[in-house]
Amino acid sequence: MCGVFGYVTNRDEALGPILVEAAQRLTYRGYDSVGAATFRDGRIDLRKDVGKVDAVAERHGLRDMRGSRGITQLRWATFGAPSQVNAQPHLDSDGTMAGAHNGNVVNNAELRVEFAVEGMTVRSENDGESCVHAVERHLRRGAGPIDAIRLAYRDLEGDYSFVIGRADDDRLYAFKKGSGLVVGIGDGFTCVSSDLPSILPLTRDVIRLNDGEIVTLWADRVEVRSVQDGEVLERPVETVSESMDAARKGGFPHFMAKEIHEQPQVARELLHLLDASADVGPLVERMREARHLYLVGCGTSYHAALLGSVYLAQVAGRVAIPVLAPQFIAQYAPAVGPEDVGLFVSQSGETKDVLNALEAADRRGMVSFGLANVVGSALTRATQRCLPLGCGFEISVPATKTFTNQVLAFLYLAYRLGGRDTGELTGIPELMEQTIAAVDGPIRAIAQDLADRNDLYCLGYGATYPIALEGALKLKEITYAHCEGMLSTEFKHGPLSAVSDGYPIVFVAGPSDTPLIISGINEVKVRGARAITIGQEDARLRANGDDLITIPASDPQVSALLSVIPLQLLSYHMSVLRGFDPDFPRNLSKTLTVD
Ligand code: G6P
Repeated sequence: MCGVFGYVTNRDEALGPILVEAAQRLTYRGYDSVGAATFRDGRIDLRKDVGKVDAVAERHGLRDMRGSRGITQLRWATFGAPSQVNAQPHLDSDGTMAGAHNGNVVNNAELRVEFAVEGMTVRSENDGESCVHAVERHLRRGAGPIDAIRLAYRDLEGDYSFVIGRADDDRLYAFKKGSGLVVGIGDGFTCVSSDLPSILPLTRDVIRLNDGEIVTLWADRVEVRSVQDGEVLERPVETVSESMDAARKGGFPHFMAKEIHEQPQVARELLHLLDASADVGPLVERMREARHLYLVGCGTSYHAALLGSVYLAQVAGRVAIPVLAPQFIAQYAPAVGPEDVGLFVSQSGETKDVLNALEAADRRGMVSFGLANVVGSALTRATQRCLPLGCGFEISVPATKTFTNQVLAFLYLAYRLGGRDTGELTGIPELMEQTIAAVDGPIRAIAQDLADRNDLYCLGYGATYPIALEGALKLKEITYAHCEGMLSTEFKHGPLSAVSDGYPIVFVAGPSDTPLIISGINEVKVRGARAITIGQEDARLRANGDDLITIPASDPQVSALLSVIPLQLLSYHMSVLRGFDPDFPRNLSKTLTVD
């Protein structure tokens, strides 16, 4: 997730502090480079570099920048490595227009070639520059600015939003397609940003743009037009009354709820990111050649590794050994060597147990790759190649969106390793949206029923086994109830004795395992348990269990990924009903940097 912000006034102002503060408010999205452009007396002052906001601001004097209009951008590398030239904003060929974007232009590589052939100056590999050249292309062909943006929209494939301005002008233009964009209207200025919280300290009068809307910002007014026909749209200004804290939570009561609902969008972004990544190909080849392949992580990340190993075997026929990081040191490290490959998985990239395992692997000369969310974390620096998760910051202690993106990354790698078309995965974000919409109501009702229970089981089989473990971990983390995750077929080998009247047992049913799950359900029901099933619509599951929470139809691998969503929501609602703060559970920390 990048972040972009634009500001328009009608006098020469010290814009530097405004842009730097806006950039600071966008830092939670995760970034590796920062830049700013100001427009002053027909000239553009562009300063940008790799690094944190404060460091880049200091190095390049961003706070001293002046002008009547300005753009700042925080870049999170997808197309093109983090570097000064790839940092945003970007200039057009003759330096009279500057712009920056958030999102991904998926046909960036093809467009850059076209622009160069057409005689434009392409300086970077970044897709933000493609947004600028796409508008420049149509201005050169004689279109006015609005029509140039409308035509650029037809050229630029993907989900993105951008802000752009010309040197000899008094306005900025912004366009939204897929990525967030909010307009702010203040006293003597207007602004536009990737999110609402970065605008609220400046003004509470906003317009939340819809996809397909172009906004022109002058100092004293804005005009919204449709990208389809260029017609002006009536978009009333809304006065935001919610607190800054509520705005940061996106209107949800907790970060966890916001992050659960963000899952479809970050999944979409991850797929773009992996499609564009230069690391995926070499990483997959090395995984293919490996003597042994280890997937190493802790907590939720370990559950993703466990599901990753199921995917790699089911989809690509590749055996991978999932292992908890400390156990990797104790059990496997003495036996590994340069022929082996380890994929180290961590949301934070700072978990000490994982870094210790990586160190042990390095000492044995093992090839090590990473899968991490936090850009610039120790894991991203210490592994030979590290794939990003692209979730932005996850604030809530229980991991949700980073888990689903870890799982999606594994599914993507399994598809690549198995020679299957990753294009088949593009429907997943929409299925996630449908899942959230379908299950939230029924899950709330179940959470009400179970709110007082202090003992539960969560059972899965095959691809849903890691999901059962993850669901049980979520419940433990934030409801403080005891919940054990197990392979459903193991339940009869001991835990069955615990079952008594009303004992809650959640079954996570994969579409190919229905008969087995039905046996499990009956085994516990005849002993008085309450069997709650999560699975696809199936008359047999409905007839045998007490409750069926239905998720959309999909193949077994995708179905497993979707089925974690109701478990996340069940934990969340139960936690709130029990009077706890799901974002900050007692005794736990988001990042564990101790042994
Ligand atoms: C801590 C967190 C867990 C997390 C685990 C691994 O224990 O509380 O939620 O799953 O660390 O974290 P990582 O950042 O390596 O994924």
